[in-house]
Amino acid sequence: MTNDDWSALVDTTDEWITTRTGIKERRFAADDQSTLDLSEQAALRAMGDAGLSADDIDEIILATDTPELYTPDTASLLQDRLGCRTIPTYDLGGSGCAGWIQAIDVARSRIAFEPKNILVVGVELISRLISWEDRATCVLFGDGAGAIVMGPGTGKATLVDVISGTDGSKADILTLQTGGTRHPFTVESAAAGDHQRLDMKGSEVFREAVRRMSSVTLELLERIDRPLGEVALLIPHQANKRIIDAIGHKLGLSEDKVFVNVDRYGNTGSATVPLGLWEAYGESRIQPGDLVVLTAFGAGFHWASAAMQF
Ligand code: ACO
Repeated sequence: MTNDDWSALVDTTDEWITTRTGIKERRFAADDQSTLDLSEQAALRAMGDAGLSADDIDEIILATDTPELYTPDTASLLQDRLGCRTIPTYDLGGSGCAGWIQAIDVARSRIAFEPKNILVVGVELISRLISWEDRATCVLFGDGAGAIVMGPGTGKATLVDVISGTDGSKADILTLQTGGTRHPFTVESAAAGDHQRLDMKGSEVFREAVRRMSSVTLELLERIDRPLGEVALLIPHQANKRIIDAIGHKLGLSEDKVFVNVDRYGNTGSATVPLGLWEAYGESRIQPGDLVVLTAFGAGFHWASAAMQF
């Protein structure tokens, strides 16, 4: 769906969206597709790339703010869809765009505790959750899914370290309130479209995103004792090209070292980082020996960075 497609629906322009966000187009799932369908596709590709079958998966963690159902978790539905054994599964929900890096952080500690293969999925069908009439939010997002399999052995990359953080006092800068126990669904709220009312303090999100993603990346590099100059590629959360540029600038990284695909997909929430990783890897922008840093921020307010040695 292009910016011009949106400008036919709401009072916006390609020029406004492009200059404010860098987004040119985004993908939306078809009407007959759901979060589970996108998760399955990503999971099958990750398992195929790792040379593993459903029987080899020992656990599933799925990060999403747009689950298949209110209950049960999407991960249990994915376990059945993939034909896995009766392995434990769980969703990591509500962490917004930082959810997938938080999930790989949880997975690595689970593997350190007990060697196992964990499928880690990041997926969003944000098109079902946002108001198609609110121009301030609807143009920002897209649907997508990405996945990896993490295990104890030597794979394509080693997860060197992860740092995550949360500032719950800033929860109000990005919320979707209707549907929870504080504001349960009512006939009136559904009619008013409150269940799709994403409240976002855009400029505050922008400021916190730049501040937290750059500082957690520096903190991580210091902890693993690797200088910025050794980072071959930074894959930041893809919310807005101006946020990405500001982080690159703050860190002093040249443009070729900062991955960008927000122009084609928009903000796919917890899927942006695994999607970026998959694309960068597929386009051979990641080579053996490369140090790759992932970073994200999301509603909560959460932030996280991960370092991967290929
Ligand atoms: N088309 C045209 N005009 C618009 C649109 C639109 N789609 N959306 C909002 N506007 C208008 C507003 O109504 C407002 O008008 P007003 O001044 O008459 O009230 C005006 O544009 C706001 O313009 P700016 O202040 O120049 O907007 P800004 O430069 O702050 O950009 C944006 C807004 C893009 C939302 C920016 O603040 C931003 O990117 N923030 C980060 C938010 C983000 O990335 N959210 C993603 C979800 S969070 C996450 O990923 C964790």
